[in-house]
Amino acid sequence: MNEILLEVAKVRKVFTTVSENLEVLKDITFSAPAGSIVVITGQSGCGKSTLLHLIGGLEAVTGGVIRVGEMEVSKMGERDLTLYRRKTLGFIFQLHLLLKEFTALENVAIPALIDGVPKTEAFQKAAHLLNQVGLSGRLKHFPPELSGGERQRVAVARALINDPLLILADEPTGNLDEGNARVVQEQLFSLAREYRKTVVLVTHDRELAREGDQRFLLHEGVLHPL
Ligand SMILES: Nc1ncnc2c1ncn2[C@@H]1O[C@H](COP(=O)(O)OP(=O)(O)OP(=O)(O)O)[C@@H](O)[C@H]1O
Ligand SMILES: [Mg+2]
Repeated sequence: MNEILLEVAKVRKVFTTVSENLEVLKDITFSAPAGSIVVITGQSGCGKSTLLHLIGGLEAVTGGVIRVGEMEVSKMGERDLTLYRRKTLGFIFQLHLLLKEFTALENVAIPALIDGVPKTEAFQKAAHLLNQVGLSGRLKHFPPELSGGERQRVAVARALINDPLLILADEPTGNLDEGNARVVQEQLFSLAREYRKTVVLVTHDRELAREGDQRFLLHEGVLHPL
């Protein structure tokens, strides 16, 4: 049995607005062994993105504990959270968020360059990852010159470049047709398995949710195993 990389215990999230307190997550508990893939599905508005934001340290929990390795994310201050997001996490979103004035190769290399990796090495690594997602012929293309599926594959490569322990993917294939969605997700999962990355992926697509090592339905603030 692999060691646990991600532990989410009794996590609660309440959004306080002027008119009401909205308890989006009531009691979320699960753990992911290192190198495993967790897929969470559920209706629009059920709290999937909120859960990823909590794990990613983008929002604070109302209650409960989130641990990644030795780190207790739910207790960290801004400084540690910034480092955590930069060193430990890879994010993939529904909208790729690629920088449109940079090429595919540059987009993938940028997180490594920010992290102080020498230029030659960063670009070599970026080219290798782009090759692995089948884009060796598109290194010099700018995002508007790529198809939707190709852009998401660039985003997959970018999420891996800093060798994160944990990849958080929020509807990474939400904007793609069925065929492309499958290809992108398969590439993400196969790279995650090759590099032994832990993945938490959320999707409203029940079909795509079938591939995870653990699968949950998020409903009324609680996870139900599928
Ligand atoms: N900052 C906020 N303040 C108040 N309510 C919020 C806030 N962020 C999200 N919510 C509410 O929390 C609920 C869950 O939102 P969330 O974005 O997590 O849903 P989701 O499952 O990701 O939906 P989708 O599949 O449409 O992306 C929604 O009802 C939303 O309106
Ligand atoms: Mg969402």
